[in-house]
Amino acid sequence: MLDRVRIALPKGRIFTQALDMLRPMGIELTEDPEVSRKLIWPTTDPSIEVVRVRSVDVPTFVEHGAADLGIAGKDVIVEHGAEGFYEPLDLEIAKCRFSVCGYAGTDSTRRNLKVATKFKKVALDFFAARRQPVEIIKLNGALELAPIVGLADVIVDIVETGSTLKANGLVELEPVGEISSRIIVNRASSKLKHQRIRPMLDALKKQIR
Ligand code: PRP
Repeated sequence: MLDRVRIALPKGRIFTQALDMLRPMGIELTEDPEVSRKLIWPTTDPSIEVVRVRSVDVPTFVEHGAADLGIAGKDVIVEHGAEGFYEPLDLEIAKCRFSVCGYAGTDSTRRNLKVATKFKKVALDFFAARRQPVEIIKLNGALELAPIVGLADVIVDIVETGSTLKANGLVELEPVGEISSRIIVNRASSKLKHQRIRPMLDALKKQIR
């Protein structure tokens, strides 16, 4: 009897990309995810099932062993903290970056800068590394509004194409870090289900461009 492996995938765009990477390994959902409202999915490999969760919850599922493997963006991993699981593989999908953004000409190095962000830990780590005291204002979305309405001097946000910044008259002031989606593995599963998980990681690795 093979060990069962449960994979946690984030809802949204990465869900489809992740399924595309699992397909060549003979792992396909047996129902159409566009139609079904299921949260737990059997696959064409009877020993593998997929759960679809909010992207920010993937690390929690994997950390607690509720899933053996997961796919999570580096942004989500950094915010969650990466101590509870292994992060063996960068899938190099969903690439984007964290940047400090604001109006052109804003001095983002000044003391007591007001920084609006959804990514509090990322922002705190970035400014703390250069010993710059800042005030963090936590928002949950539409960060670009913050400098426009005077809520903050700058934002620390995800930039992919740059079109949201451009549409709102803002620019990238400083790069903070690169983001892409990673495979994360529960620590216990990595040992106990090594014989299942290792070949999966090897097969995924072969697909990375
Ligand atoms: C993200 C991010 C930016 C935008 C960047 O927002 O916070 O606003 O995408 O993408 P772009 O560089 O390609 O324009 P998201 O769509 O997740 O919504 P949110 O603002 O509610 O967080």
